[in-house]
Amino acid sequence: MELESFSGKDKSALIEKFLRELPVFKSLSDNYLSRIAKDFIVFQVKKGETVFYQSDSSTDLYIVLEGAVRASLLNQEGQELVLAAFDKGNFFGEMSLLDGKPRSATIIAVEDSALGMLKRERFLSAVKDDPMIAIDLLSALVQRLRMADGMIESLAFLDVNQRLVKLFLSIAAAEGEKDKSGFFRIKKLTHKELAARTGASREAISKVIKALAFRDVVREDGDYFLISPDAENRI
Ligand code: CMP
Repeated sequence: MELESFSGKDKSALIEKFLRELPVFKSLSDNYLSRIAKDFIVFQVKKGETVFYQSDSSTDLYIVLEGAVRASLLNQEGQELVLAAFDKGNFFGEMSLLDGKPRSATIIAVEDSALGMLKRERFLSAVKDDPMIAIDLLSALVQRLRMADGMIESLAFLDVNQRLVKLFLSIAAAEGEKDKSGFFRIKKLTHKELAARTGASREAISKVIKALAFRDVVREDGDYFLISPDAENRI
């Protein structure tokens, strides 16, 4: 679906079709869904743009209609830790929506994206009308808590080597491509991006990549990294 298609006059019909596939709205009747679709405000963000900052006081709920964003913590030196990424069909902003407190993280567009935004009051009134929405939202929150536990575990118990290989293998599992020698092929990320996604410094990432390349666990091939299929056992 083109980004432009969300800005035309069929906007709410498209959003309705889209919402129908979201687990969090799955219990709503067709009638209710088409009413709530009309209350979404759609807007577009360019790659690299910030949707909102950590500590902002907004409380709306967002859904990614097209593209992808990431939730990050940034320190004063500009160092970034990526907490999660949300692509098409995912929602974010539910924490401030639920407790009314400032945003817990900064949201940045990973690519040109179209987002749907729903006011807190509108979402809360939908929950009152159909409490099943709250149950579905809770289940999504628990899933996020489990992922956060996984991240805490990695930061506490794994070294940078292990965290990087774990990240490479999780990307490989999602992208699922292998080259002729059986190595996983994944799109290259910058050392800065890898640092942000592993909670390491850029310097540490550069050192680890060099060491992994020396041991032939990771190869660099133009725009790609090649990852040994037994990388996990070799570190
Ligand atoms: P909110 O605090 O309203 O704004 C930032 C959003 O980032 C937050 O809601 C969640 O949607 C998302 N977020 C913050 N922390 C995490 C996390 N640990 N895992 C997944 N998503 C998160």
